[in-house]
Amino acid sequence: MIPEPPILLRRSVAWSLVLALMALVALVIVVAWAHGKAPDLRRGAALYAQHCASCHGARLEGQPDWQTAGADGVLPAPPHDETGHTWHHDDAMLTDYIRRGGQAVLDDMGVAMTSGMPGFGEVLSEGDIAAILAFIKSQWPPRIRAIQAERSGG
Ligand code: HEC
Repeated sequence: MIPEPPILLRRSVAWSLVLALMALVALVIVVAWAHGKAPDLRRGAALYAQHCASCHGARLEGQPDWQTAGADGVLPAPPHDETGHTWHHDDAMLTDYIRRGGQAVLDDMGVAMTSGMPGFGEVLSEGDIAAILAFIKSQWPPRIRAIQAERSGG
């Protein structure tokens, strides 16, 4: 008959198992959390590339001479990086602009300007728009992010 291991040894084995299990649970939580955050940015980047990059630039750089209107009086697409003014606006305004397009928003504000920014409400869900905005924001330096977040009410 195999002799029973001493009680102390059995206890430390049990404790090792408990600790290993806790470490595993912690790891699963961290991975799930990272996973829950990352896909939104990845999805936002993919949606941006598909729907926005043709005008606003693959690297969010905007169109050349974006501050000068063309012969038709329409402004080129501005950059979405920190050199543009996207971050001057709060989330509600940006979402509205993307959903309904520039013309509808400018008309509502009484701004007499022709907008070249199409509306994407038919193509993109609210979640899609939020993912794109999250991706755009992820490209801003922390200071700019903080200013825009404050403007959006936190
Ligand atoms: C056909 C070209 C075109 C496409 C495609 C396009 N935009 Fe625009 N966008 C513009 C132009 C031009 C402006 C500037 C004129 C204006 O503000 O009305 C603009 C302005 C904006 C603004 C306002 C920025 C500011 O600082 O006032 C936002 C936000 C914006 N676009 C987001 C997007 C997003 C997100 C997408 C993709 C879902 C997108 N745009 C796709 C042309 C485009």
